[in-house]
Amino acid sequence: MSSCYGKLLRLSIFGQSHSAAIGMSLDGLPTGEAVDIESLQAFLDRRAPGRNAWSTARKESDIPEFLSGLVNNVTCGAPLSAILRNSDTRSQDYASLRTLPRPSHADYTANVKYGGYQDVAGGGHFSGRLTAPLCVAGGVCLQILARKGITIGAKIVRIGSVTAPGFDPVGVTAADLAEASAHTFPPEAEEAMQAEIAAAKAEADSIGGVIECAVTGLPAGLGEPMFDGLENRIAQIIFGVPAVRGLEFGTGFAAAQMRGSAHNDPYTVESGAIRTTTNHHGGILGGISSGMPLIFRVAIKPTPSIGQPQQSVSLERCETDELIIKGRHDPCIVPRAVPVIEAAAALAVLDAWMEGHH
Ligand SMILES: Cc1cc2nc3c(=O)[nH]c(=O)nc-3n(C[C@H](O)[C@H](O)[C@H](O)COP(=O)(O)O)c2cc1C
Repeated sequence: MSSCYGKLLRLSIFGQSHSAAIGMSLDGLPTGEAVDIESLQAFLDRRAPGRNAWSTARKESDIPEFLSGLVNNVTCGAPLSAILRNSDTRSQDYASLRTLPRPSHADYTANVKYGGYQDVAGGGHFSGRLTAPLCVAGGVCLQILARKGITIGAKIVRIGSVTAPGFDPVGVTAADLAEASAHTFPPEAEEAMQAEIAAAKAEADSIGGVIECAVTGLPAGLGEPMFDGLENRIAQIIFGVPAVRGLEFGTGFAAAQMRGSAHNDPYTVESGAIRTTTNHHGGILGGISSGMPLIFRVAIKPTPSIGQPQQSVSLERCETDELIIKGRHDPCIVPRAVPVIEAAAALAVLDAWMEGHH
């Protein structure tokens, strides 16, 4: 399995949903960086399960135990490592999934690849739970980036058919990002979005959505052309987040319907700095940061595990069979994925920043 990411910052994520613990090792962090454990915990709590109607009923404290890499909560140069113990596991709920794969989950493909030896309990290494150590690593990076004047924030812009406006692509500020991160749902659409999730849940169904992420304070000139661009590096980690179906930068797919005269971003000078008056390019040109806010959107699919009976195939008998999923599941992954997207962006951006400054 390849659960590693990064060039100068090297992240490794380990564990399964119901193993003794899950965790991460992050090598290459700059030294002398303080980690504020309290604000890291507040960040992790935004992802933790079992707190509300749109999340799985599984309860985990999600408190990381740092094993190495910190002296008095300051990075010391040794790899930073942390584990989160799994406590609320009900593995018996998952026994049938070894022979009856869940549609849209990784049960079938993992079975083919690992010859039936994969851990199926709770989704094993494919579980959304593995995003907790990703948030530990990314949460530390967010704090380091903030001290460099680089701020990352994300917000929900769609749940099912309910939409909310994204960030101002030109004028978004660090304060806007902090404000967005302070709310699970955009306040103006909260009621309608929660109703959309409740309606899916009432029918033993699930629903997806879109998250927009923005980065401010990023200097121009980070990233490489062709295969190691900022877009490529962000894409590699964002697609590492389970349930991500799509990713677009700036105007994304909408650019295909525009004319060049409307899509091109005119250059201007503001207080001696070169900027663009619009930001259709989303802060990246030729794989290299432009100095404008970096903006991307992530499509999250509806949760694969739903309560309705579904058609699957018995891998033992090689014939269709009805699947009724037991276990506890998020009716909508999107709210819990927002800090995960921020964490993933922070790892990609700090890695690229370090490359530009060493
Ligand atoms: C925070 C988070 C929570 C998730 N919770 C669930 C869940 O409760 N049930 C489920 O079937 N999938 C859940 N997923 C999604 C699956 O892990 C994912 O769809 C599966 O591993 C297949 O991978 P893919 O969708 O990337 O192809 C969750 C994902 C995330 C990011």
